[in-house]
Amino acid sequence: MKILVIGGGGREHALAWKLKQSPDVDRIFCAPGNAGTAQIAENVAISATDLPALARFAKETRLDLTVVGPDDPLAAGIVDLFVAEKLRIFGPTRSAARIESSKIFAKELMRAQNIPTAKASTFSDSDEALRYCGQLQFPVVIKADGLALGKGVIVAPDSATAKSAINSMMNEGSFGEAGRRIVIEEYLLGSECSLHALVDGKNYRLLESARDHKRVFDGDKGPNTGGMGAFSPAINWSPDLELQFEEEIMRPVLRGLLNEGITFRGLLYPGLMIASDRMRVLEFNCRFGDPETQAILPRMKSDLLPLLAATIDGEVDNCTIEWDKRAAVTVVIASGGYPGKYKTGTPIFGLAEAAKLKDVQIFQAGTRRANGEIVTAGGRVLAVTALGSTMGSARTRAYEAVSAIHFDGCQYRRDIALAAVTG
Ligand code: AMP
Ligand code: GLY
Repeated sequence: MKILVIGGGGREHALAWKLKQSPDVDRIFCAPGNAGTAQIAENVAISATDLPALARFAKETRLDLTVVGPDDPLAAGIVDLFVAEKLRIFGPTRSAARIESSKIFAKELMRAQNIPTAKASTFSDSDEALRYCGQLQFPVVIKADGLALGKGVIVAPDSATAKSAINSMMNEGSFGEAGRRIVIEEYLLGSECSLHALVDGKNYRLLESARDHKRVFDGDKGPNTGGMGAFSPAINWSPDLELQFEEEIMRPVLRGLLNEGITFRGLLYPGLMIASDRMRVLEFNCRFGDPETQAILPRMKSDLLPLLAATIDGEVDNCTIEWDKRAAVTVVIASGGYPGKYKTGTPIFGLAEAAKLKDVQIFQAGTRRANGEIVTAGGRVLAVTALGSTMGSARTRAYEAVSAIHFDGCQYRRDIALAAVTG
């Protein structure tokens, strides 16, 4: 089979790496890919959001399957386009992807189905939103309605921060159209957990739990990023919580979507906040998490390809997924300055040495090849994953690999999975 993975980040490198292990896969393409995917697949110079060019490539190459990594092409309707052209693709349609691409849509769906989530109000008028701040108890969370590369969520500890976030999103257009409407919601305390479900329209299969670290600095300080690291399994997950999750979240959300006439096929990933054995939904994502995927897939023993195929064909109920019992820890190495401005084109050293370490897998993200060297090309540059019989040993090994790698200005968190080790 010939498969195309759309995207060029660490998640896509992990998806291509996992799919390449399938005995049914002959060729893998990545569009646009990165220097890491170039080592295991064929990079195609088409942007992840150039939908007509992607569809043309799929036809001309007679692809058997396309797997979509990022949210933007899904929100733009790539699945609708491919289906109309009779091309096989893994991911939700544009209307199903609204569960991620509009936080207001997701909130309304949760309200209608009584799905536990933070209390929220939505605004399309900035004066109203600013006035509303006068009657709030802080902290609150301000969210841009649309997609903002994981950066459209501001935790405001006081009224001044809230007002400046509202002005920046609604009046200054800091996230473009995505921030013209906003959600202001109650700040939830607890610990987070990411669950990934392969949803085939009616049924679903859960993948192993994971946890990511969204803030840029140690101790959960600094602004939110796309994700600075992850580990799997999440330590705050249990069979009891899983039952609650299925009853209070998964079944109602699929019912809610069907009530709207929406069939969701693809990967649904609710981000949860767990406190005193109760969970609430922070958000829904309609694609694999980044960097959770880099921690989850190395633990998956089963072939990913038939799982994706069964999800598309409405047969996920017949699937079982085998897992490696070992823990995985993923540390993201980012460019200095990320999630703000950063430099690119900086040579990366030590990749080969780090890759030689046992049970270590290096997934590349913002990288490209220039004059025979691998250089930085984005904010999140690498995701370094290690497996270990305990979370502690996975963590030690991941950081051993990280310390073998260097580039000018590189930054990473020192406390990824630390809470999972020290309790
Ligand atoms: P989201 O994109 O909605 O998942 O938000 C990104 C991150 O912001 C989450 O992973 C949380 O760390 C934080 N966050 C979002 N909503 C809330 C909330 N209501 N209370 C506390 N933290 C939140
Ligand atoms: N890890 C956060 C995300 O993929 O949205």
